Amino acid sequence: MIKNILKSLFGPIRIGVNSSKTLLFLWLKKDLKKINGDIGVDLAGGSMLNKKFFHTRKYICVDLNLEKLNKGLFNNKDAIIINDKIENFMMNTEQQKPNLIVCVQTMGINSKFDHTKTKEIIEMMFNFLEKDGSLIFNLGNFHLDLTKIEKELKQYFNGKFKTININYYGFLNKTSSNPNYHFSKFLFAILMDIFPPLRTFFGLQKNNIYFNCYKKL
Ligand SMILES: C[S@@+](CC[C@H](N)C(=O)[O-])C[C@H]1O[C@@H](n2cnc3c(N)ncnc32)[C@H](O)[C@@H]1O
Repeated sequence: MIKNILKSLFGPIRIGVNSSKTLLFLWLKKDLKKINGDIGVDLAGGSMLNKKFFHTRKYICVDLNLEKLNKGLFNNKDAIIINDKIENFMMNTEQQKPNLIVCVQTMGINSKFDHTKTKEIIEMMFNFLEKDGSLIFNLGNFHLDLTKIEKELKQYFNGKFKTININYYGFLNKTSSNPNYHFSKFLFAILMDIFPPLRTFFGLQKNNIYFNCYKKL
């Protein structure tokens, strides 16, 4: 009910299990609006809950969980599914290079992912991306030292994109799927978007980083 009212006011939205994740989905929606082109790839895209934010002509969802992919395909008949590890998919030289790569809620977050390979896989994403294409991902702090990897990635990406925006967040991460909290989760996500110190509760909760690497040079 509340979700439908919010949708009619704001267009497509995704409310996560907490305000912190809802903030991530607000950023994703905002940033993907500026990115079009032929091919968009959702790496570890699960059941395609972020597909509604893509503006590319084709949408490819890669995930090792076939059940999730089939669920996504049921609701998104125009999607292309690849049931494989993202690292295998990116090694396929036959695949046309994408104009957009998104990988969220996986690196430093999902237990199925090999977090020791994070930097290597991000480098693969960069190499796989078409020139002028954009790369958007987030990282959690599960088996990852965010300060260290942020520094390494800043060095690696230096001079490789037109702009790079990096934002820490992670405050208000107590989870609840109770629909009664949809409105408050959305409201707090908007407040954190407007007032950056709130995103990490003044630097005390830097649990995630969001990278928006716009237009590969
Ligand atoms: C928390 S879900 C996130 C799904 C989606 N990105 C979203 O935002 O709704 C994490 C997904 O990563 C997938 N995954 C983890 N490691 C993977 C890998 N190496 N290759 C492909 N999929 C992977 C899991 O199967 C799972 O569907």
